[in-house]
Amino acid sequence: MTSDKNRVVIFDTTMRDGEQSPGASMSLEEKKQISRVFDELGIDVIEAGFPIASPGDFEAVTEVSKILKKSIPCGLSRHNKKDIDACYEALKAAPRFRIHTFISTSSLHMKHKLNKSPEEVVEAIKENVTYARKFTDDVEWSCEDGTRTDMDFICKTVELAINCGAKTINIPDTVGYSVPAEFKKIIETLINKVPNIDKAILSTHCHNDLGLAVANSLAGVSAGARQIECTINGIGERAGNAALEEIVMAMKTRNDLMPFKTGIKTELLSKASKVVSNATGFPVQFNKAIVGKNAFAHEAGIHQDGMLKNRNTYEIMTPESVGVKQTSLVMGKHSGRHAFKEKLNDLGYMGITDDIIQIAFGKFKVLADKKKHVYDEDIAALVDDSLIKEDNVINLKSLRVFAGTGEPQRADMTLEVYGEIKKATETGDGPVDAIFKCVKKLYPHDVILKLYQVHAVTEGTDAQATVSVRIEENGKTTVGQAADTDTLVASANAYLNALNKMIIKRKRTAPEEEEYEQQKMKGI
Ligand code: KIV
Ligand code: ZN
Repeated sequence: MTSDKNRVVIFDTTMRDGEQSPGASMSLEEKKQISRVFDELGIDVIEAGFPIASPGDFEAVTEVSKILKKSIPCGLSRHNKKDIDACYEALKAAPRFRIHTFISTSSLHMKHKLNKSPEEVVEAIKENVTYARKFTDDVEWSCEDGTRTDMDFICKTVELAINCGAKTINIPDTVGYSVPAEFKKIIETLINKVPNIDKAILSTHCHNDLGLAVANSLAGVSAGARQIECTINGIGERAGNAALEEIVMAMKTRNDLMPFKTGIKTELLSKASKVVSNATGFPVQFNKAIVGKNAFAHEAGIHQDGMLKNRNTYEIMTPESVGVKQTSLVMGKHSGRHAFKEKLNDLGYMGITDDIIQIAFGKFKVLADKKKHVYDEDIAALVDDSLIKEDNVINLKSLRVFAGTGEPQRADMTLEVYGEIKKATETGDGPVDAIFKCVKKLYPHDVILKLYQVHAVTEGTDAQATVSVRIEENGKTTVGQAADTDTLVASANAYLNALNKMIIKRKRTAPEEEEYEQQKMKGI
């Protein structure tokens, strides 16, 4: 029997740790869209960003705090008053909010990263956890690099943080170094040795460098932790964080061994995965547990035969339980705006502005004219494409491409760049090269193309193509995505999307650099 003592708090950090994935960056609109889906999904606490890090992060935390109806918004801060003040300022519009403050406790980090003695770290905890408590009674404290910290020192600092008012104590496996038996032991030791541990909830925050993030998190819960920090699709710094969908479905499917419950509406997991994948531009690997395209596909004849006789032969959970529907033929060119809006609701697009619906509906009509069957995936792709464009400063106005054997491939392009219409013609080593050269001519830049990838949204030669492009500039990367039945149009838009995201990133992290780029453009 599940009882409240077995309720596990799900703390999502997709928009904070997840956004630290190299290449992942989400626009404000995308974060707002994700927040609506996460709120509906039933996530308990949503870490929306690191408010002091940049004006963009501050704004995102503020806006997300206003959107959430059930989930508690949270902001991250280091151990200093400026960070904590920024968290409070960004979160204060919400009726309830959490401040998450962290400091490293391992000898390695204290010495080489913080240049502080253990005594100084102890002082910093006292001062800053107490300070954060002035703004809210929901304060979370994390000991960064916790799993490589001397056990007596973690016990001492955890006890202190609780005495200063922290209600959640998070134990990060910051570098993904721990293994389940060891992580379990750490949680058990804290429960047995810290005298005031019953005044706080213990939390796990596991990174996936050894592929053990989910296993370590579950080991932590079996030892007594009652909050798990995780991200949708497991995105995050380096190899990522524990994947929310895997944790939740593991506890649900093996409830006989892990009698824990969460507030997650699992039928929305697939939708949440798609929204995050589209916003970050990170495709979900086909064989990814729970949300991968192949997670419920049965290829071997012997398996298909077993499935027809009894689904339990090869299925440990149903696709419906995580919101995977059989691809359905949805609408045709005669479907109206109302039916389209209903469809968007069904697909989990909540709170989209009328302008975006109008743009997406226009695209749907064009698509329905071109394409015999319009599937859910097609609709999702074109809505995501419309959402992506909201913050763009460079937009494709027209494109003609001359490709084929013999002739040099050529592209004629018109772009709107910071409100100005510009035209160019370029030849290239293939049509995509010609297109990218046009973009470079119209918006001169020095980014390096790191990845160009095409895949079909659905089946058939009339399928829309989704193109992903990853670019790099001064060590920063962004990923752009776009879908269209014309692969070359999708290629141009994906490249522009990556560039637009780079511009947003520049504005957030180096506004003076972006100002300089804009001045340069105006001088052309
Ligand atoms: O991995 C980590 O240690 C973190 C902390 C800030 C919680 O993300
Ligand atoms: Zn982390």
